[in-house]
Amino acid sequence: MDKIIIKGGNPLSGKIQISGAKNAALTLIPAALLTEEPLTLRNLPRLADVDTFGHLVNQLGVSTEIEGKRPEVFGRVMTLKAGRITSTEAPADINRKMRASVLVLGPLLARCGEARVPLPGGCEIGARPIDLHLKAMEALGAEINIGQRFVTATTKSGLKGGHIVFPIVSVGATENALMAATLADGETIIENAAQEPEITDLAQCLIGMGAKISGVGTSTLIIKGVTRLHGDTYSVMSDRIEAGSYACAAAITGGDVELVGALPETFGAVIEKLEAAGVAIETTENGIRVSSTGRISPVDIETQPFPDFPTDMQAQMMAMLSLANGSSVLTETIFENRYMHVGELERMGANIQVAGRTATVRGVKELTGAPVMATDLRASMSLVIAGLAAKGETQVLRVHHLDRGYERLEEKLSAVGADIERVSGD
Ligand code: UD1
Repeated sequence: MDKIIIKGGNPLSGKIQISGAKNAALTLIPAALLTEEPLTLRNLPRLADVDTFGHLVNQLGVSTEIEGKRPEVFGRVMTLKAGRITSTEAPADINRKMRASVLVLGPLLARCGEARVPLPGGCEIGARPIDLHLKAMEALGAEINIGQRFVTATTKSGLKGGHIVFPIVSVGATENALMAATLADGETIIENAAQEPEITDLAQCLIGMGAKISGVGTSTLIIKGVTRLHGDTYSVMSDRIEAGSYACAAAITGGDVELVGALPETFGAVIEKLEAAGVAIETTENGIRVSSTGRISPVDIETQPFPDFPTDMQAQMMAMLSLANGSSVLTETIFENRYMHVGELERMGANIQVAGRTATVRGVKELTGAPVMATDLRASMSLVIAGLAAKGETQVLRVHHLDRGYERLEEKLSAVGADIERVSGD
């Protein structure tokens, strides 16, 4: 299996192009199931998760065509056409690889009157159930049957508009409810909806396809169902988590990097914490510029739904704060068990104590390179960030996690001066 080898210590300098957002792509692809006409998605990131979701919808009868596979160009154009849906079952093997595959539930149910999705098993970052997705479908008139391995949702006479009040904020359940409601008969109100920018991206794409949605970007979404949606062309938003990750990388190395295409309004809470840590952030014509002297001040962070600090940035920020000149307290409120990077950062010399959902990071003078591996995507990125600043060589194993969510990571980082390479083998 490939690994990434980093020799730390080079300050990053130059420009990094930010790719299309993984999490937006993973909800825009199933949106194509809502119409028999072609949906063209531009600026799709080249990521393993996007390929996996493409294969999933192929198995449901959707054709996927990728335009101009030029490897030197960031971003892809994919046209999806769900002319006739031939299967309404999300395969279990793909669900195991990628939890986002549950996002076919709403579109399949709305378009075909039935959907079967595998029951979730455990997952590296906590239990991650799908009860809220199912409750939302029930509120739209679906009948839910929970079997041993699969859940089946059916509706005999089509979905009906309904009132959905989420007890906790869920990105995926909001996306499923929104997609299903676009084709339901009548009006749907979704309260306590997630407000993540990727949901706004989905809503804007659906509106382009003919959906009637108001309240976009707020916690109350109102959807007037239509009888059919049509095809469209939509460009995926830029990835705020990728941008935030490279901002941490620039900061920890005392670098000066422009993140081209970054949308600061989509990660304001991250920018605020970076500034509190002493990192200079400036809006430019093309994105943002991140510069740092390498002296990091401690900051306390609590993860919360958007617009607050995202859980998907907790690990990367922890890596940066491990070199701060003082103690930071991080609290993870979204997922239990999302501190798997802590042990690995400690192997590199970080000083971190975890007590329940809280991690106290006592800044150390330096990190030292080591062979490390993580069990999820953002945790793996935190090790890359630590490796960029560490003395000596860091080997990041299990690179397939990074390939799920960072488009051509080593290429982007070496272009701004990092000593990083991918090697194949064990
Ligand atoms: C999405 C993102 C993920 C991010 C997360 C939180 C995608 C593909 N993934 O995941 O990167 O970390 O939002 O910002 O967009 N929950 C329930 N029941 C449910 C659904 C969720 O209890 O039916 C709980 C979860 O266990 C978790 C919380 O709700 O504690 C939030 O999860 P959710 O927002 O649904 O995350 P995802 O959509 O899976």
